Amino acid sequence: MSEPGRYDDPELLRSIITLVTSTLDLAELLRGVADVIVTASGADACFVHLLDADRDRLVLAGASPGFDKAVGQVELAVGEGVAGWVAARGRPAVILEDKTADPRYKYIPELRGEEFTSMASVPMATRQGMLVGVLNVHTRERRDFLAADLAVLTAVGGLMAGAVENARLHATVAIRSVERARFAEELVAVQEHERQRIARDLHDGVSQRLASLGFHLSAAAESLGRDDEAAAAGIEQARALGVAALDEARAAIHGLRPPVLDDLGLVAGFHSLARSVPGVRVAVEADPELSVPPHVELSLFRITQEALQNITKHSGADEAWISLRRRANRLVLEVADNGVGHTPPEPRSAADSYGMQTMRERADMVGGTVRVQPRPGGGTTVLFTVPS
Ligand SMILES: Nc1ncnc2c1ncn2[C@@H]1O[C@H](COP(=O)(O)OP(=O)(O)O)[C@@H](O)[C@H]1O
Ligand SMILES: [Mg+2]
Repeated sequence: MSEPGRYDDPELLRSIITLVTSTLDLAELLRGVADVIVTASGADACFVHLLDADRDRLVLAGASPGFDKAVGQVELAVGEGVAGWVAARGRPAVILEDKTADPRYKYIPELRGEEFTSMASVPMATRQGMLVGVLNVHTRERRDFLAADLAVLTAVGGLMAGAVENARLHATVAIRSVERARFAEELVAVQEHERQRIARDLHDGVSQRLASLGFHLSAAAESLGRDDEAAAAGIEQARALGVAALDEARAAIHGLRPPVLDDLGLVAGFHSLARSVPGVRVAVEADPELSVPPHVELSLFRITQEALQNITKHSGADEAWISLRRRANRLVLEVADNGVGHTPPEPRSAADSYGMQTMRERADMVGGTVRVQPRPGGGTTVLFTVPS
């Protein structure tokens, strides 16, 4: 154990190095580091403020014992408070006493600044110079932080910056691998639904018709020479069933990938869906020049198809709108109606039936999301957003 007040004891660096190489869990790491700094350096409190670069804010992400409740609760803008000052300039700051007289200082009740006299604040930056956060240490008694102390704290900050980056990368990889597994599961589920649908379509449609076609042909064969009129009628019926079977087969194939998408494109596909809704006037607003990858095209088409089917089945609407727009790097599809509304609106995923579930699965598969919302002015809006 080092003497209180000494930051140049190798013990401190040794414990920090052991810690940063022992865990990839960010919260555990930050708590541990604050703890080690306090124990090994004789400081009385240590705070780790991490930079949330998207929002340009520092978030208290780790603290020595006694300050656990403040973790995640305290935020500073870059430039605000001593930590904000250090983040903005990338340079250490020291206040030996009388903090409140220092214009950089901001009192944060949760951190109980009144209990401490001296403080040092150093940037946590990676070796590439990227700022990851700010490390603050406080002492009850007045303490002179020497250049050597700051150098050690800055080195600790650098080690932590690297460890934080690693922990973040690790978390991202872990999330990705869970997502990938879920994606594979969903893919299999969607394929399975699709197979069952095709099997059902073929069984109810094509097979039934071919079976009765065979039956009519046998009957006709038996009548032939005895009752030619009955034979001719049987053959005619068989022919009609052949035509119907062909239609059924086409419909089953159409279910796989609607030919209109390949022949005429997505916007024509929307118009063909719009025309297929009985009793509802459906307006289509979509730029035919929008470039949409084929797999996304199919999900846009299918989600619209299910939303329109729901409008027919459940909404009682007489007007509906399909719109597709590009917003920065996203495509936004809205299918809205002026019907009775969807009660209760989301969240109701657990109670969703097959149609909604399939919509969500299709959206997930292309990295998008589906939301069902009340439409201002009455009715329902299905909103599908997908990166593209
Ligand atoms: N446009 C809509 N207007 C009103 N209610 C809707 C609408 N769309 C869906 N719903 C409600 O959401 C429920 C779930 O829809 P869905 O999962 O497609 O199942 P299904 O259509 O088989 O009933 C429907 O039963 C209906 O009550
Ligand atoms: Mg439905």
